[in-house]
Amino acid sequence: MDNNQAIQNRFGESADLYAKSGVHSDPDDLRRMTAAAQLVGNERVLDLGTGTAHTALAFAPLVADVVGLDLTQEMLDAGGRLARERGIDNLDLKLGDAEAIPFENESFDLVVARQCPHHFADVALAVREAARVLRPGGRLLILDSISLPNAKLDTFMNAVEILRDPSHVRNYSLAQWKSFFEDAGIVVRVQHDWLLRLEFEDWTKRGGTAAPAVAQLRAMLSSDAPSEVLEAYAIDRVSHDFGLPVGLTEGQKPA
Ligand SMILES: C[S@@+](CC[C@H](N)C(=O)[O-])C[C@H]1O[C@@H](n2cnc3c(N)ncnc32)[C@H](O)[C@@H]1O
Repeated sequence: MDNNQAIQNRFGESADLYAKSGVHSDPDDLRRMTAAAQLVGNERVLDLGTGTAHTALAFAPLVADVVGLDLTQEMLDAGGRLARERGIDNLDLKLGDAEAIPFENESFDLVVARQCPHHFADVALAVREAARVLRPGGRLLILDSISLPNAKLDTFMNAVEILRDPSHVRNYSLAQWKSFFEDAGIVVRVQHDWLLRLEFEDWTKRGGTAAPAVAQLRAMLSSDAPSEVLEAYAIDRVSHDFGLPVGLTEGQKPA
């Protein structure tokens, strides 16, 4: 099975949980995206890996129109239901791959992606594709889980993520994100990071994690973890809740 098929199977089964997910629909987190975009109101926006469209729906009332692109039809169907419930009519949800964006060069003012590039097989290709469809002067805004710049901490969290969801490819560091942007000709203007608090039960349920992997994750996110891991990820040794490092990178295609 290739990675795209694994993603479609995995997210196809969990679409309703993503539509209801408090982590993905958190208004404060979505405001980080819309605020960082410095919108004027007439933008045409592309949301890569839109999933059930939480990010696309946050942008839609603030811009001219939004296209949400995703590999998984069930996620798009759930997003379409949310859009209808909210009376949003300037959102177009389209099936497609962020690594082969089905749009003309220079056709968007803003390209965004939130909590999905860690699933992309070739994230550098997806960033080059985003740069291609941006008009000169257009902006790219990515918010995703990131790795910490320490080999032990990086390996620990990427292993945790893969156990929870085998379609996870990799969390990248903010320095790597800067390189992906610059290699695609996008000038990075803003980067910042924080810890996103995750509840273990909710996170493994949404991940469709198999019972043996859940048991293994409980053991990893416990007092057995090295002290620097416990500290860096603010792990609660009893509930196994933890803080996932998340980073935002914003940049501009030269005019
Ligand atoms: C966690 S969900 C997205 C969350 C969403 N962006 C939000 O803000 O709520 C991850 C999504 O990425 C999609 N995805 C993964 N790889 C993709 C790719 N190469 N192209 C398009 N979508 C992809 C999956 O189908 C899934 O719907």
